[in-house]
Amino acid sequence: VLHLASETPAAWVTRIWPDFDEVLLDHAHCEMKAASTAIGLVFRLGEHRVVVDALSALAQEEMDHFRQVLAVLDARGVPFRRQRASDYARRLREGTHQSGRAGVLDTLLCCALIEARSCERMKLLSQHLPDAELRSFYGELLASEARHFTVYQGLAAEIFSEDAARDRLAALAEHEAQVLATAEPEPRMHA
Ligand SMILES: [Fe+2]
Ligand SMILES: [Fe+2]
Repeated sequence: VLHLASETPAAWVTRIWPDFDEVLLDHAHCEMKAASTAIGLVFRLGEHRVVVDALSALAQEEMDHFRQVLAVLDARGVPFRRQRASDYARRLREGTHQSGRAGVLDTLLCCALIEARSCERMKLLSQHLPDAELRSFYGELLASEARHFTVYQGLAAEIFSEDAARDRLAALAEHEAQVLATAEPEPRMHA
């Protein structure tokens, strides 16, 4: 799905379900991080009008998602609080270019892959969670994350080239799959 180089088994949902409040809290943080990353890129790539338009809209959507997840936490009586993030995003960025033009390409494509993985996992949640309300909640969210993947991939292709974006995405997808395959099994969206 969505250019990912590995597939999460449905058993992931069974594994995280006992700690689902922790996963929801992580999910809330992920949405806020997604918004913050998009805003950071609007600052960094402000000379590209396509980036400014696409990512300011995307950031707003991620903040909407954040507020929706907050409402779910509230309904479950789970206070929003700080939480240690999984190593996923940090390890994903390790071994990729951080600066210069290569850094811009890798940043956009890492964002694309994070969106793709979120979408894949939300799809599993929408299919296999034991709670019907949560299943439909994730069913509604996953379409946006699929679109966000396309936004980031499209920006990479537009600023660089279709070929450059495609080749680099394939390489980074292998790296992303490796990061997840060696991640600690903890109750997080990307673990
Ligand atoms: Fe989101
Ligand atoms: Fe997203």
